[in-house]
Amino acid sequence: MTQRLLDRLTAPEHDKILTRAERPVVCVQGLGFVGAAMAVAVANARRLDGSPRFDVIGIDLPTAAGKQRIDSLNSGHFPFESGDRALDLAVETAAREGNFFATSDASWYARATTVIVDINCDLKMVDGKLEADVDLLREAVKVFGARIPAGTLVLVETTVPPGACARIVAPALEECFAQRGLPKDAWFLAHSYERVMPGKDYYASIVNFWRVYAGHTPQAADACEKFLREVVNTSDFPLTRLGSTTASETAKVLENSYRATTIAFIDEWGRFAEAVGVDLFEVIDAIRMRPTHSNIRQPGFGVGGYCLTKDPLFGKFSAERLFGRADLEFPFSTSAVETNNRMPLESVAKLRDMLGGLTGTRILLLGVSYRPDVADTRFSPAATFVEEVEKCGATVTCYDPIVREWPETGKTIEKDLPRAALFDAAVFAVPNQSYHGLELQRWLSGGRPAILDANNVLTREQREELRGLGCIVESIGRGTGL
Ligand SMILES: NC(=O)c1ccc[n+]([C@@H]2O[C@H](COP(=O)([O-])OP(=O)(O)OC[C@H]3O[C@@H](n4cnc5c(N)ncnc54)[C@H](O)[C@@H]3O)[C@@H](O)[C@H]2O)c1
Repeated sequence: MTQRLLDRLTAPEHDKILTRAERPVVCVQGLGFVGAAMAVAVANARRLDGSPRFDVIGIDLPTAAGKQRIDSLNSGHFPFESGDRALDLAVETAAREGNFFATSDASWYARATTVIVDINCDLKMVDGKLEADVDLLREAVKVFGARIPAGTLVLVETTVPPGACARIVAPALEECFAQRGLPKDAWFLAHSYERVMPGKDYYASIVNFWRVYAGHTPQAADACEKFLREVVNTSDFPLTRLGSTTASETAKVLENSYRATTIAFIDEWGRFAEAVGVDLFEVIDAIRMRPTHSNIRQPGFGVGGYCLTKDPLFGKFSAERLFGRADLEFPFSTSAVETNNRMPLESVAKLRDMLGGLTGTRILLLGVSYRPDVADTRFSPAATFVEEVEKCGATVTCYDPIVREWPETGKTIEKDLPRAALFDAAVFAVPNQSYHGLELQRWLSGGRPAILDANNVLTREQREELRGLGCIVESIGRGTGL
């Protein structure tokens, strides 16, 4: 099926025709959690007569991970445990239709009418200094800048430091086009960030969700708008155009900084609630009744994932490195990331108190992903937790209903829920669906491990049942015995 698109594009007679005379070709650079899903969404965009709007070529690196993603997509499977039937079906449809394939061969960019950039742009603290992978971004742009036809729309979806499109991507494209003897600005550059949310609404979070976008020029903004209207359900989820790519990039990092900061803010109230004997979840439910406060966050095990752990720091990097404004401080965003990074250590401290020390204890960790019911373990707070309790001399067994491998730690993940009787303590770290129906008495099978509900996983009834069965049960965000 994929072969059909390959055959069509490589057929000798096809070489004489510009691809764009047939179906526009969209190249998606980077087939990770975002790019793979976006590529599938574009391949499933339909004309009024039901035929595909685009031919789509997903391009990743020839690394082990890149090859696995490419092979998986080419065999009609999403490369990650998606948890979303709609996404799995969309991959199958694209494979059946034959208008999508994945490759590591960059020469396909020469066929593009649109390139979507979905690569990673990491941000790390190196020797006390923030370092973003803007060199990787520049080099990635040059790979297609050296090949794309004049007039191609370049749509950057990667989360980048504000100013990156104008100050890194555009100059790289200009340089490439000048080297090729083409007018140096014969491309259309736009930014529109992803709000994709792995989990049960993975696919819908791309095609049925609001988008913000902006162009490097008004013409680029128009081209981006036209493209997004063809892929996203913009009738129900209207687009918002901003005045510059820097504004759109700022919207993305501010959106995530806001979320990370409000989560960190609740952390101090969680500890207050524990100290004074209050159930903060009840308090928060009461506050949420007020419409202006309906999205107040709650205490928990920690914050993970690829976005909230780094995006709040992009403002500082951008001000300092792209705009020469080292004087601009981001105290809330910076402190939010630090607080959120430390959060799993509170569960470690609580567990130590519950067990009277951790040396030689056996701990069962329930949930290793950073969100419920997803297989993504990147920057999961569970990694910090495991590292710390093991440092304190405990042995940790990890169970997760969805995650099968944990590449960041190399730890084995139990596929079947281990019997509680084997452990001194069990920590409910992620509110996965499957714990709702847990038959507690059967699971305990006579054991009485200490139970830490670190993420509001258990209901009041479950906590009481566990206590009735002889377990000590404590929570993050609740006073003792609540
Ligand atoms: N994961 C999410 O839920 C999410 C949500 C919204 C936005 N984002 C943002 O989207 C971007 C991508 O995130 P992700 O989770 O998909 O990252 P990822 O690490 O899963 O995927 C990135 C992919 O890009 C590939 N890549 C890197 N350089 C390349 C190059 N030169 N050519 C081709 N491929 C290349 C990598 O091999 C990798 O497969 C990030 O900026 C992220 O912050 C992520």
